[in-house]
Amino acid sequence: MTTHEDAGTDGTAPGASPRVQAVYGPEDLSSVPAFSGGFINFGYWEGIPLDRPLTAEDRVRSERALYRRVLRTLPGGSRAVEVGCGLGLGGTLALEEFGFESVTGMDIHPEQLERARRANARILARAPERLRFVPGAAERMPFPDGEFEALYTVEAAQHFADLAAFARESARVLRPGGQLAVTSFFLPDGADGAAEALAARLDSFADGLDLAHPLGTLLAALRDAGLTDVRAESIGAHVWPGFDHYLSGVDLPVTWPRNFLTAYHDGLLDYYVVTARHPGDGA
Ligand SMILES: C[S@@+](CC[C@H](N)C(=O)[O-])C[C@H]1O[C@@H](n2cnc3c(N)ncnc32)[C@H](O)[C@@H]1O
Repeated sequence: MTTHEDAGTDGTAPGASPRVQAVYGPEDLSSVPAFSGGFINFGYWEGIPLDRPLTAEDRVRSERALYRRVLRTLPGGSRAVEVGCGLGLGGTLALEEFGFESVTGMDIHPEQLERARRANARILARAPERLRFVPGAAERMPFPDGEFEALYTVEAAQHFADLAAFARESARVLRPGGQLAVTSFFLPDGADGAAEALAARLDSFADGLDLAHPLGTLLAALRDAGLTDVRAESIGAHVWPGFDHYLSGVDLPVTWPRNFLTAYHDGLLDYYVVTARHPGDGA
């Protein structure tokens, strides 16, 4: 069984890159105008009308919708772990709308976990056996083998330094028949050399916060880890135009985040839902 280093004693995140340390620590990305409501993802905008100015309520709706897009691929009623849970609001959504037996929110950053415990204080007090937040890295998870029937991660894999280690750990903590769902942005097939172009347009790639992972690297890592039924679906058309439309209406201190849409249009980046299954029937 893999163990993990203790996180949180001095407010730093062991193993996290300097930008992940800063952005999810003192800078608190959830508080910048591009995000809203405590979530930190670009959102899934299908069904939200884009022919009008967007509100902060629309923004939260999109962020919750991205969680729903992922969670509906997983078996309800199961024990789930979320990797890179941020403020943990997706875990509450998973419990309330998808009937998971329990959700474990794991994050590499101790400050995020403190925020998550504050943001979810009510449900933590009411049903402590159904929700918990624990420190840990995607590449080195603090759980015994076969602990979960479902594993999901929402807009965090672009930070994972080692996708092969993440895939191996996912396969290890899932029980036979368990299911995985990953949503985030990756380089599409044929854009493996786009890292430089992305760094030139997007500060988050230039400064090392976001890593230019080709989609194929993740898919191969999941298969190499022994997972089956590995599938990827592009959802960029429901992510980038809505996110950019929202940005066009907020007072941004910087303009580079608008380049996510141009990078998508130019084939440098896309947003995906990736699913896979642990072999075996779980009997
Ligand atoms: C963009 S936020 C997404 C948060 C949340 N999933 C959401 O959609 O609101 C990415 C999160 O991943 C966490 N993270 C980054 N690298 C990680 C790693 N290697 N292992 C676990 N968590 C990580 C960060 O601390 C941050 O909370």
